[in-house]
Amino acid sequence: MRPLIIDVKDLEFRWQPGAPTVLSIDAFQVSAGECLFIKGPSGSGKSTLLSLLSGVTTAVAGSVRVMDQALEGLGSVQRDHFRADHIGYIFQMFNLIPYLSVVENVMLPCQFSTRRRANALRRGDGLEAEARRLLHHLDMDHADLHRRAVTTLSVGQQQRVAAARALMGAPELLIADEPTSSLDADRRESFIRLLFDECRGAGTTLIFVSHDASLEPLFDRSIDLAEINRAARVAEAA
Ligand SMILES: Nc1ncnc2c1ncn2[C@@H]1O[C@H](COP(=O)(O)OP(=O)(O)O)[C@@H](O)[C@H]1O
Ligand SMILES: [Mg+2]
Repeated sequence: MRPLIIDVKDLEFRWQPGAPTVLSIDAFQVSAGECLFIKGPSGSGKSTLLSLLSGVTTAVAGSVRVMDQALEGLGSVQRDHFRADHIGYIFQMFNLIPYLSVVENVMLPCQFSTRRRANALRRGDGLEAEARRLLHHLDMDHADLHRRAVTTLSVGQQQRVAAARALMGAPELLIADEPTSSLDADRRESFIRLLFDECRGAGTTLIFVSHDASLEPLFDRSIDLAEINRAARVAEAA
């Protein structure tokens, strides 16, 4: 059996004291190297779970262990370092930095993490070469690579830049929050296959969240958040 990269136990989460419980999960585990799909309707707590797994927020009770590190045992600065070192994140709106070029956006994680920087240097002929390799592999047109204004790229191209940035420096965990929701079905699937390729090559575990269950068969395993989240069942019964 492969080691666990994520081990969640008795997790409780609400956004504010007194607010309704959004997540109540007895157990949730992910093995290293898995490509996992998490589905659930809009508002069911998918993005909230991802914020907990990446240490943007912390549990009200219970524990979230990532690579054997209990995130609730770290202060917020330590969690920021942990995230920069070990987790690539593709946001739904991509969150590219408008005043940086395509390649500069992709190299960004190496500024926040010496570990990612060292990994990227080990994998490529310098940071810029590694950024370009990732962009090419994710099917980014050569001409678009030189554009300065990332905001002028199409949605599909912005998604590729966001994915390359998240993969830069081979983080152990890649988290993708509905990154394909604005693409058509064909392009969604080809994008996911490229993502798989790059994750397998780097030994990266992928957690991919979407409300679109048609993507589910592509993955090693799929979880319905409502099935593991007791808070959802309580809300339904109420
Ligand atoms: N930053 C936040 N502050 C307060 N409430 C939030 C925040 N983010 C999400 N929520 C609430 O948490 C619940 C789950 O939302 P979310 O995790 O975004 O769902 P999903 O990603 O599945 O659409 C919703 O009721 C939402 O309004
Ligand atoms: Mg969401």
